[in-house]
Amino acid sequence: MARAPVQDGRDPYRHLYLPFIRVEQFHGKARSILPRDVYGYFSSGATDEKSLKENQEAFGRLLLRWRCLRGVANVDLSTTVQGTSVSSPICVAPTAMQRTAHPDGEVAMGKSCAYSNTLMTLSTWATSSIEEVSDKAGGTSPRWFQLYVLKDRRITQRLVERAEKSGYKAIVLTIDLPRTGIRYADKRSGFKLPSHLVLANFLGLEEFATENDKRFATLSDFADSLFDISISWENLDWLKSITKLPIIAKGVMNAEDANEALRRGVSGIWVSNHGARQLDSTAATIEVLPEVVHAVNDRVEVYVDGGVRNGGDVLKALALGARAVFVGRPALWGLACNGEAGVSQVLELLNKELELSMALCGCPSVLDVPESIVVPAARYRSTL
Ligand SMILES: Cc1cc2nc3c(=O)[nH]c(=O)nc-3n(C[C@H](O)[C@H](O)[C@H](O)COP(=O)(O)O)c2cc1C
Repeated sequence: MARAPVQDGRDPYRHLYLPFIRVEQFHGKARSILPRDVYGYFSSGATDEKSLKENQEAFGRLLLRWRCLRGVANVDLSTTVQGTSVSSPICVAPTAMQRTAHPDGEVAMGKSCAYSNTLMTLSTWATSSIEEVSDKAGGTSPRWFQLYVLKDRRITQRLVERAEKSGYKAIVLTIDLPRTGIRYADKRSGFKLPSHLVLANFLGLEEFATENDKRFATLSDFADSLFDISISWENLDWLKSITKLPIIAKGVMNAEDANEALRRGVSGIWVSNHGARQLDSTAATIEVLPEVVHAVNDRVEVYVDGGVRNGGDVLKALALGARAVFVGRPALWGLACNGEAGVSQVLELLNKELELSMALCGCPSVLDVPESIVVPAARYRSTL
């Protein structure tokens, strides 16, 4: 059953919930309360934002095709990711600098996820450290650490070791950011990390001190100065040699890269176009998913993110072969509007919509969602 504590009436956040019934309302409120530059940083996509729209619109071009009388008295959302139990296949993607959304930032995100046994992924670029999130968020829900490979391999290695020591269950290697994409909103606002915040995973590292001083440069310049843009598939061998944790490749958008990642021994493939923030005019992730699922052919789990805004979107992704679905901006909107409780409410709304969509499609378990419940809308278009 979905999120049992809520059904038992023990949800510690419930009295704090906003009178919202859909995720889009959190987006609307976040737009009105966040400083303009922060909202621009969160919401924008690359250049003309065609792919940003596509990520969402492509879900609309897929229709659900229900099956009847299939015994859906109990709809079970629980599943496993990389062998660890979670309450739902809806998980939280890594997003940078969450304290710009809310003073409690990644710790609030972590607490909310821990409460509902939801998988959270912490960004390298976080404003709360690896240790702070694991110590303060507590709980037994799994956390993954998202890694950018930095020019300084000693710092990169230390990040991986710290994540492993702090109980993170996987390293998510983001492979779609050799350089930062052009986002006009950031160019206009000159968005940078506010002076009262730090990139917490780098605090106290001598090697980083000079770089940290540059935090007032524009963000993309800063990121580009730190990231190793020369990394190639060979670096996966190095990463594998320094950690026992499973490695997930995030940013795969075709069968070729999925196969290459598998040859290098990754344990999971994450279909993503970075929330359409990197390169514009890329395909929507939900449209790429079948190609990747087909190439992977059950060798490892496949995940997807990008444009997921309701439970029906999640169900479509599951039917097309995703083991789990990640949300980036929806969780940020929840955090911005209402901290821990806001994240919890967004997850709760998505989970309830997923549960209902499953019941209406005749799917009692997320572990067994048939592909046949999803069809392209074009199939029903009249050719007369
Ligand atoms: C504001 C913002 C910051 C992000 N920061 C990171 C990051 O630090 N590392 C990373 O791998 N992906 C990052 N992403 C991409 C997300 O992990 C995810 O791929 C994307 O948000 C999914 O699309 P959605 O926002 O439509 O759900 C970021 C996305 C946003 C919107």
